[in-house]
Amino acid sequence: MHAKRLKYIAILIITGLCASTAQAVKPTTNRDSLREGRRIYEQACAWCHGTGGEGDGPAGWFIGRYSSPRPRNFAQDGYKFRSTGSGDLPTDQDLFTTITRGIPGVMPAYRALNERERWQVIAYLKSWNPAFEEEKPVPLTFPQAPAAPTEAAIHNGRNLYVKYDCRVCHGDNGEGDGPEATAGHLRDGNNLPIRATNLTDPSAWKNGASALDLFRTLTTGLDGTPMPSYANEFAGREEALWELVWYIQSLSDQQRK
Ligand code: HEC
Ligand code: HEC
Repeated sequence: MHAKRLKYIAILIITGLCASTAQAVKPTTNRDSLREGRRIYEQACAWCHGTGGEGDGPAGWFIGRYSSPRPRNFAQDGYKFRSTGSGDLPTDQDLFTTITRGIPGVMPAYRALNERERWQVIAYLKSWNPAFEEEKPVPLTFPQAPAAPTEAAIHNGRNLYVKYDCRVCHGDNGEGDGPEATAGHLRDGNNLPIRATNLTDPSAWKNGASALDLFRTLTTGLDGTPMPSYANEFAGREEALWELVWYIQSLSDQQRK
């Protein structure tokens, strides 16, 4: 009898825990949730991304007509901010992160939509691209960042920055003023001029500024831009990639001093 009651209490506790985290769990997609996703999209996103998702909303057209970035065309374009390999679709969690964080300078953060609403709008925008039905995006596994870097590691990172020609676009000091950038040669997937990121100013970075975020950016690349994936160059050389990451971070530390 006693044991039975304990079991009953345990079930109650487990059910209670599930209920309290229900908001964080992705709701299943059905006709009702898609309708809700569409309502949210038309209110919050369509003015930039367009009612048909083609990146041609009135505000988007206005801000992104002649220069990058134009709001994403959800029917066609690839995605920049991913935990998946170059050329792959993003995971739902990647899309959730983008919408929650926003994109510095160009897209607001949508923390005011509750989690359920964010999942609903994600399901709606995915419905424009049949590839999401066909492929199941698989996230890459990323290692934990090692403890703080040494001066020698940052120095090695500088050598890698030179060796892999990051300077050609991002400039010798990382200020986004490399010869390819200043000559106006850089174009995005829509053939619009695009700037090379200023690596001394993390507040403007779109894909996150932690060591792990930088490791991910360098591994996945930013699809649809001249920023390539360096996964092959650093395959089996994780330590070297961290050194490059630390060098980039040191550029803004120096700036602050
Ligand atoms: C003020 C204009 C604006 C609004 C409003 C807006 N976006 Fe965007 N969005 C952009 C721009 C511009 C880009 C492209 C940024 C880039 O390529 O660097 C973008 C890109 C994206 C991407 C692609 C990210 C990637 O990995 O490439 C997603 C997903 C997205 N928006 C979802 C949404 C959703 C969902 C909403 C509404 C809840 C929304 N956006 C509202 C301007 C906007
Ligand atoms: C051919 C030109 C080119 C080369 C070479 C290049 N990049 Fe980039 N990189 C870009 C462009 C353009 C962007 C901006 C993409 C955008 O805004 O959507 C970028 C973005 C980045 C970002 C992301 C910033 C953010 O917003 O989150 C980092 C970090 C970065 N580059 C580091 C490097 C490093 C390190 C190397 C060398 C290993 C390198 N890049 C090589 C053109 C280049």
